[in-house]
Amino acid sequence: MKVLVIHGPNLNLLGSREPSIYGSQTLDEINKSLNSLAAELGLELTIHQSNHEGEIVDLIQNSNDHKAILINPAAYTHTSIAIRDAIAAVKIPAIEVHLSNIHEREEFRQKSLIAPEAAGQISGFGPQSYLLGLRAVSYILNAK
Ligand code: DQA
Repeated sequence: MKVLVIHGPNLNLLGSREPSIYGSQTLDEINKSLNSLAAELGLELTIHQSNHEGEIVDLIQNSNDHKAILINPAAYTHTSIAIRDAIAAVKIPAIEVHLSNIHEREEFRQKSLIAPEAAGQISGFGPQSYLLGLRAVSYILNAK
């Protein structure tokens, strides 16, 4: 079963980007952990990182051959009606993940435009948020 993983803007800088908030793991390290958990869960990942809103919309629109989406929309979480609408438009479930707990941060981060269209949200567990998100994907797919 194929799962599309999308990392939004600035997540390519993980490791050096505000480590007190986002931790010291690089995106490559997170992707490695995701791939090994995926193998355990019998899932196959297609992983993309993009700093561009339209590119993320295209990835979601073209996700038909996947069973689910695991997405950290990063800053677009709080601004992007286009990404929300793309998730609403496709028929596969999306799980939203965040490294930090967006609900305990600045007020502008506490609102997710994506959450109402997501199957669920995991926020605040650092890189583990991605792994918990992938387990949630597996749970949803196996429950169906
Ligand atoms: C983030 C939280 C967002 O508010 C922020 O813009 C990010 C990362 C997180 O994973 O904690 O870039 O999505």
